[in-house]
Amino acid sequence: MRHGLLVLLSAGLAAAEDGMSGWLRYAPLSCSRSSPPSLPQTIVALNATKSSPVYAAGRELQKGLQGIFARQVQVTGQTTNDSSVIVGSVAQYTRATGDSTVPSLEEDGYWLNIKGDSVQIVGQNERGALYGTFEYLSMLAQGNFSDVTKVSNPSAPIRWTNEWDNMDGSIERGFAGPSIFFANGVVVDDTSRVAAYGRLLASIGINGVVINNVNANATLLTAQNIRGIGRVADAMRPYGIQIGISLNFDSPKSFGHLAMSDPLDAGVIAFWTDITSQIYRQIPDFAGYLVKANSEGQPGPITYNRTLADGANLFAKAVQPYGGIVMFRAFVYDQLNESDWHADRADAAVNYFKPLDGEFDDNVVVQIKYGPIDFQVREPASPLFANLPKTNMAIELQITQEYLGQQCHLVYIPPLWKTVLDFDLKVDGQPSLVRDIVSGERFKRPLGGYAGVVNVGTNSTWLGSHLAMSNLYAYGRLAWDPTGDPQAILQDWIRLTFGPNRNVVDIITKMSMDSWPAYENYTGNLGIQTLTDILYTHFGPNPASQDDNGWGQWTRADRAGIGMDRTVSNGTGFAGQYPAQVAAAYEAPATTPDELLLWFHHVPYTYPLHSGKTVIQHFYDAHYAGAETAQTFPALWEGLRGKIDDQRFEEVLFRLRFQAGHSIVWRDAISEFYLNKSSIPDQAGRVGHHPYRLEAEDMQLSGYKVVALNPFEMASNSKAVVTSSNATGGTLAARLGFESGVYDLGVNYYDIIGGRARYEVYLNEKLVGEWMGDNVDSGRLGHTPSMMLDGHSATRITFGGVEVKEGDMLKIVGTPDGAEMAPVDYVVLLPEGVVD
Ligand code: GCU
Repeated sequence: MRHGLLVLLSAGLAAAEDGMSGWLRYAPLSCSRSSPPSLPQTIVALNATKSSPVYAAGRELQKGLQGIFARQVQVTGQTTNDSSVIVGSVAQYTRATGDSTVPSLEEDGYWLNIKGDSVQIVGQNERGALYGTFEYLSMLAQGNFSDVTKVSNPSAPIRWTNEWDNMDGSIERGFAGPSIFFANGVVVDDTSRVAAYGRLLASIGINGVVINNVNANATLLTAQNIRGIGRVADAMRPYGIQIGISLNFDSPKSFGHLAMSDPLDAGVIAFWTDITSQIYRQIPDFAGYLVKANSEGQPGPITYNRTLADGANLFAKAVQPYGGIVMFRAFVYDQLNESDWHADRADAAVNYFKPLDGEFDDNVVVQIKYGPIDFQVREPASPLFANLPKTNMAIELQITQEYLGQQCHLVYIPPLWKTVLDFDLKVDGQPSLVRDIVSGERFKRPLGGYAGVVNVGTNSTWLGSHLAMSNLYAYGRLAWDPTGDPQAILQDWIRLTFGPNRNVVDIITKMSMDSWPAYENYTGNLGIQTLTDILYTHFGPNPASQDDNGWGQWTRADRAGIGMDRTVSNGTGFAGQYPAQVAAAYEAPATTPDELLLWFHHVPYTYPLHSGKTVIQHFYDAHYAGAETAQTFPALWEGLRGKIDDQRFEEVLFRLRFQAGHSIVWRDAISEFYLNKSSIPDQAGRVGHHPYRLEAEDMQLSGYKVVALNPFEMASNSKAVVTSSNATGGTLAARLGFESGVYDLGVNYYDIIGGRARYEVYLNEKLVGEWMGDNVDSGRLGHTPSMMLDGHSATRITFGGVEVKEGDMLKIVGTPDGAEMAPVDYVVLLPEGVVD
């Protein structure tokens, strides 16, 4: 244990916590020592202006000391000789104390100097002082009372979030309720949640927020809404956060009633100059614009035969006089034809942007998704990072789990981000880590950094799930310092969010660190992408949806083989977009890592991996292993009962149980699909064999009928049952042939939007359990809902420890509601330790 770190016990559990304070709870600590550590007696904040970050820092210190130690400490503007914590910018500090020995700092950086009860927190600017304050409070809240002298500077100037909020209050790929920024076409009046969000973001070093969807609506530009953006900026300013907005490229035409939106047209230029001046009049510290152009149906400069650089520079010139910047997204691609072996969506970004290198204005930053496709469970680093040495770049990461379980599955994502940030692209044979490229360091660029798509909502948990907040926390920490260790960052978050109990820290660490590998295992392996339904919800499995359409997320799976041939020699040529050494490695299957094999190569199912397994056997094994890991999560979490407040404990348990069940839906759908494609059986004999299941279609049906599912792999044995009418219920009955014993009894059913069917399960007329299919209708699970019986709506509910005797009569009574015809797939009886 480090010097000064006390052994702490959590001081009793608050009865219920709703997650609103995130990791900034300042929960009370009780110390094993009889006397508490020496703490500053006074807070000296060197700016008394209420909208200033230094003022906010003073209040935050007061709140923290009150919460953690029950100490009431006054904030003053006067320096004192007594024990104090003093906070301000370098200029303020030097003026107030005459001390000019503060080490030199970079923009937004801070110096933190702790000697017992004498603490100096000095920022290069006020924002930096606030960051240092949060760092000091984070130490205290974790019971770390060490003396420290340290300088901390951010890796990059741009550390932003993007929020995909729509004007009507909905959020694209948001899973936690409606927007905190907009409702009914306008900016909300009450900005208290906006301010609370700003506080959370400032504590992890975020300095900019783009508040509306990249698929932008021009009505954000009305005078009323510009005033509204001003309110949002006012709410976030005390936290050092600047506001930006996404623009719709066609606004001159659609909103300004011009004939067109050609970026070189004088009228169009005047339109944007005018809008920009209106915005800066309202918000002098406005950060700038984010632009999605010529992408997925959005208008853009190419529509007018201009280049993407012409489009970016149009906005860049408008904001340049005010010091603003333009984030221009590289997510530009076209629909393609799969019958062309050489066609590849992954090629698009380099093809579009590389020829424009050097043509972007200095205040343009090209914002590049981490991988060439779209936030998949694993992708190689985007080669575009290696191809724009004369352009500012930022990496776009996704905190909202669009393709990663939509916050209904625990997936701690930083280990995935690190595979990209730490990847060496070896540009010109020189070390070229992606993190050093986006920081601006590698190519000596003045701007660069991070954009994280977060999509918080009004749900008190912000993201819909308490555990998902580790991703937001870690995003900020990694944008500040991408060399950070994902596990160490996670553990800070756990202690701050759930307290310092060793057991709590160990268990949440284990689950979280196991979660991304597990999710990759039970979704898409070997670089084949997530295998979710890309045409519908992006939530559950649907491997067929990847192919036979123009979206270019192809797997090219047929009877003989699988994978995209992206080699230069025989494929799409994508591998050749990397610098020579990396390209050479990806060109050959032998030198491509297993986890990206199918990204770069089309191989037979029997192709042997480096691991020695065949591709198809790896698929089966990984899917079984991943689902098995997910089964451990609820049990691990159960071990924390009583060590976490009831509300968060139960809410997390509910989601982990859902995940355990849904991971089996994933496992079975993907395994069955590829068994069917390849006709190669699972060597372990598991796929297609379910000895512990009773298929609903094989039971005695009364008031129920059998339906065949399409795609077939969306149901166990490809069939399910639904009530024959939506007015009257039905029953399913079966005599159990299982050996007498204690089982977990699971029912796989479908929970669709538009109905709340009811279910009761009986054994010999004795009620075992009852529930309602309302996880999606109630919003209890915030994932994108489905209207169909499919891999998104497939759900398992489990009743533990049920005593069963051979010959018992099982009965399920289903009562339909609305569109939901009490659908059931199967019942499973699991002896201890069995997963089926
Ligand atoms: C994904 C996502 C869209 C989003 C797009 C983007 O395709 O599904 O909802 O608009 O990315 O990043 O622009």
